[in-house]
Amino acid sequence: MNQLQITCPDDWHVHLRDGEMLRQVAPYTARQFARAIVMPNLQPPVTTVRQAVEYVDRIVAAVGDSPFEPLMTLYLTDDTSAEEIILAHKSCFVKAVKLYPAGATTNSSAGVSDIRKCDAALAAMQELGLPLLVHGEVTAAEVDVFDREAVFIQQVLMPLMNRFPKLKIVFEHITTADAVEFVLNTGLNIGATITPHHLLWNRNAMFKGGLRPHHYCLPVLKREQHRQALLYAATSGHRKFFLGTDSAPHNRSSKESGCGCAGIFSAHAAIEIYATIFEQQNALDKLEAFASFNGPDFYGLNRNTDIITLEKSPWVVPESYPLADGESLIPMLAGETINWKLIK
Ligand code: DOR
Ligand code: ZN
Repeated sequence: MNQLQITCPDDWHVHLRDGEMLRQVAPYTARQFARAIVMPNLQPPVTTVRQAVEYVDRIVAAVGDSPFEPLMTLYLTDDTSAEEIILAHKSCFVKAVKLYPAGATTNSSAGVSDIRKCDAALAAMQELGLPLLVHGEVTAAEVDVFDREAVFIQQVLMPLMNRFPKLKIVFEHITTADAVEFVLNTGLNIGATITPHHLLWNRNAMFKGGLRPHHYCLPVLKREQHRQALLYAATSGHRKFFLGTDSAPHNRSSKESGCGCAGIFSAHAAIEIYATIFEQQNALDKLEAFASFNGPDFYGLNRNTDIITLEKSPWVVPESYPLADGESLIPMLAGETINWKLIK
């Protein structure tokens, strides 16, 4: 098979940033995806509908005349009110609310200190059917960094589900067999996104021949057995699993630093990387469900009607993309070959 046509995909988890970085990266996402769920972890974070309106305008300006539709999220804090949730639901363009446990990742210091402080907001979300998107890691210093997701399931997610059994939850960028099993064993109100990097690499990739800052993300890459569980979930066609790149650009000097930022930029080639991975798994026939159907079905949105065409035509990813001020952006698989190419 040398050509593959699928319904136009969406990205259910992306960081588009702001300012110069937004203008540089948003066109890559708009080239491949009809819609994307845009993360709110700016500085300051997007905590109100008013801020989301302003941010959406900047995104639309950054993608020019592309028909790309940004789907916005609010950043949950200890103080998010039920009124703000009602406004978000009424707005029609805010599609979800993101939970960052305080201190879990990039720009999460304003995040939630204790999820029980958010009960009023969560009750409103459950009632209105507004999904909670979860960065699923505990932050306690004594918990091993590789165990943070598994511990989060036990300590936070299960009690949360017991208190709000009808709340729609997307377990974002899952990285473990524990998360796959958890999602498979819960009701249809629980879904999960899976990134290209967690499908392609295990934790050895961070240490291959030396320390590899461009393979550092959060949740951190895990053991091979966990990657295999993710491959199984993504290529199963199961409706609970869908595409979310977690493309998270940082400029080169912030990555290659004594305290490097977490995040992998994959928006330059995301659908092409997923296609390459699905082909390696002999599962190209399952790509469309994962990339184009399961996400909108979970969110209760229409599936896209346009078609994209991918061609088996290997190409080499640039070593870097230039940014202003002499900075650059190192993309996922820099200098390496990707087998599939998006042609229209
Ligand atoms: O690797 C990551 N980068 N994980 C996150 O959760 C946040 C993201 C970012 O914003 O840089
Ligand atoms: Zn993210």
